[in-house]
Amino acid sequence: MPDDLLVVTGGAGFIGSAVVRAAFAGGWRVRVLDSGRPDVHGRPPTQADLPDGVELVVGDVRDARTLDAVLAGATAVSHQAAKVGLGVDLQDAPDYAETNVTGTAQLVAAMARADVGRLVLASSMVVYGEGAYRRPSDGAAVRPAPRDEADLAAGRFDPRDPATGEELEPDVVTEDARLDPRSTYALTKLTQEHLAAVWARETGGRVAALRYHNVYGPGMPRDTPYAGVAAIFRSALEHGRAPRVFEDGAQRRDLVHVDDVARAGVAALAWTAHAPAGTSRAFNTGSGTVTTVLELATALSEALGGPPPEVTGAFRAGDVRHVTASSQRAAAELGWRAAVPVSEGLREFAVAPLRA
Ligand code: UD1
Repeated sequence: MPDDLLVVTGGAGFIGSAVVRAAFAGGWRVRVLDSGRPDVHGRPPTQADLPDGVELVVGDVRDARTLDAVLAGATAVSHQAAKVGLGVDLQDAPDYAETNVTGTAQLVAAMARADVGRLVLASSMVVYGEGAYRRPSDGAAVRPAPRDEADLAAGRFDPRDPATGEELEPDVVTEDARLDPRSTYALTKLTQEHLAAVWARETGGRVAALRYHNVYGPGMPRDTPYAGVAAIFRSALEHGRAPRVFEDGAQRRDLVHVDDVARAGVAALAWTAHAPAGTSRAFNTGSGTVTTVLELATALSEALGGPPPEVTGAFRAGDVRHVTASSQRAAAELGWRAAVPVSEGLREFAVAPLRA
C-alpha cells in the first residue's frame, strides 16, 4: 500500500478534502481532481489548500482527456465530485444529470481505459427515499406511501400505513431496503451506484458505495439552496436569528461527522483491495445516533448562546420524515465505526469555520 496512488475527485470540497487528509495520513499518495466550480468554491482551489505533498489538478470529471491524464499510474479512485443537495427546482435537473451521471460515466470509462480497478463512491441515504417504518399495532415492517399535502398542512407529519391509515413508527434502514429515489439528486446518486456496478462487473473491478447520512463538520458549505440543515441553522445563528425548524422538529436524522466519513472512505479503500473481483457493495455511513432536527437546532443554539429554535410547522414538499441508518454492515465488513460523539461534534461545529 505505501506509495499507492489514490485519485480523489472533488478533493477540494467539504467531504473530499477530509478524504484527502485521511488517506494521505494513512499512507496513500494522493492526487486531487477538482473543477473548483464557482457555485461551490468562492475561488478556485490552489495547492495551498491541500496538505503538502498532495497533487492538485484543476479540471472537470466530465472531460475524458483530463481523466486519462489524472488516472495515469493510479491504484484507486475515491469519487467525491458531485452536485449535492436538494436543489431549487426542476431547472436544476440537467446540471445534476450532467455533473453526477455523465461525470461518473466518464470516470468509469476512463478507469477501464487506465485499468484502475478500485473505486469508492460517495453515495447517499437519499437513495432510500423514506427510511424504514413499523406499524405500531403489530410491529410489521411497512413501506409508507409518500406523505399527503393535506396531512402535512394539518400538522400530521408521520407517514401512514397505506393499508390501514395508521401512523407509522420509525426504524433504522439497512442496505437491503428498497431503493426509492425521490429527487433528481437522489436519482443521480442511485444511477452512480448502478454505473459503478456495471463497471465492476464488466472489468472485474471492485466498488464500495458509501451511503452517507447527514454529514456535518468544519468546512461545511454555508447557507445555500444546496446546503444541509446543520449549516443553515449555523448561518442563522451567526446572524443572531433563531434556527427555523420545519414540521414539528421531531423528524429524525443520523448526523455523522465529516472526519468519520473520511475514515470510512479509507477503510472502504482497503476493502476494495481484497473484495472479490466484480463486486459492488453499498454501506450505510452513519453515526448510529438518532438526532431530531429540533435537537440539532437546540444543540447549536445553546452552544452559540443564540436564540432558541423556532418550530414553524412549515414543510417542504419532497422532504422525507425520518431516515436513520444501521451502519452494522460497515462495522462488520469494513471494520469502521463512527468515533465522534454527535454531542461533541455539534459543540465543535457550532463555532467551526464554514465554507464561504
Ligand atoms: C441531506 C442532504 C442530502 C444528503 C443527505 C445525506 C441537502 C439539502 N440534503 O438530506 O443531499 O444526501 O442529507 O447526507 O443537503 N429543515 C429545517 N429547516 C431548514 C432546512 C431544513 O427544519 O431551514 C429540516 C428539513 O425539513 C428536513 C431536515 O431539516 O426534515 C433535513 O434537511 P436537509 O439537511 O435539507 O436534507 P436531508 O433530507 O436530511
